[in-house]
Amino acid sequence: MSKNAKLTVLGSINADHILNLAHFPRPGETVIGKQYQIAFGGKGANQAVAAGRAGADIAFIACVGADDMGERIRQQLAQDNIDVTSVERIENESTGVAMIFVNGEGENNIGIYPGANASLTVDYVERHQQLIADADALLMQLESPLESVLAAAKIARRHQTQVILNPAPATKLSDALLSRVDIITPNETEAEILTGIAVNSDEDAARAAEVLHAKGIATVLITLGRRGVWLSEQGQGQRIAGFSVKAVDTIAAGDTFNGAFITARLEGKAIDDAVRFAHAAAAIAVTRPGAQPSVPWRAEIDDFMQQQD
Ligand code: RIB
Repeated sequence: MSKNAKLTVLGSINADHILNLAHFPRPGETVIGKQYQIAFGGKGANQAVAAGRAGADIAFIACVGADDMGERIRQQLAQDNIDVTSVERIENESTGVAMIFVNGEGENNIGIYPGANASLTVDYVERHQQLIADADALLMQLESPLESVLAAAKIARRHQTQVILNPAPATKLSDALLSRVDIITPNETEAEILTGIAVNSDEDAARAAEVLHAKGIATVLITLGRRGVWLSEQGQGQRIAGFSVKAVDTIAAGDTFNGAFITARLEGKAIDDAVRFAHAAAAIAVTRPGAQPSVPWRAEIDDFMQQQD
């Protein structure tokens, strides 16, 4: 595909409340935090921003609440080269919220209140279906109602729009949805929930990929944290290592990977080059705090890759 190939992202928008602390609180424990920030996030928005900053021609289907936060996020998305015509303000709803703890190792755990994201209904998807029909690729995650994700995948299939699913947060999925996915990008936990195979090695990843291929998915990318990505196309698998950097926090690393990966693919990069490009974008993101504030622009990704040569 060419530089003008179109991407549509469908997904969530959240205001992230991020608290850095030495260790995660145990049940009943209170831990005094070291740093607190509110940043723009949500898996859908993070992936849209990653694609927009990496240079994609991108539109976003999503919902914000009728609040100041929603308006500010919408304006920021537009500045990140995203067509926000289909990001609607939902009356009597608040913008989605994520409460995020980040520990001393840069790991996180997250609780979410969907707010306006729950209004991304099947009706809403159908109202904006032209954006899916006109796109070359549709990228989705699972912070939106599952029936809406399925409806969008059906529209995409009818119009030969490639479907990329990042199955996060982890949940079991129907064959009706999986059989309409062209590329799936689970992490190890998500791969285990989808396939029943615990992914602790390349061999496990290959077996999990086989299960997903058997559901009708042509390309499987299992992200393996520091070990890189297991890329499997029609049963031919290889591990592609990532870049080693000092992580501040891993919030939105996977989202950045997804947005950058599909951008590179739509530009016509070979799939293993697209994975390396996405690894570079994610490596930059983990060296910076927060979700969208950490997502790099195209020039930064290109510079990073040149420095590795
Ligand atoms: O993937 C990271 C994102 O997950 C955060 O931005 C938070 O909003 C949650 O959706």
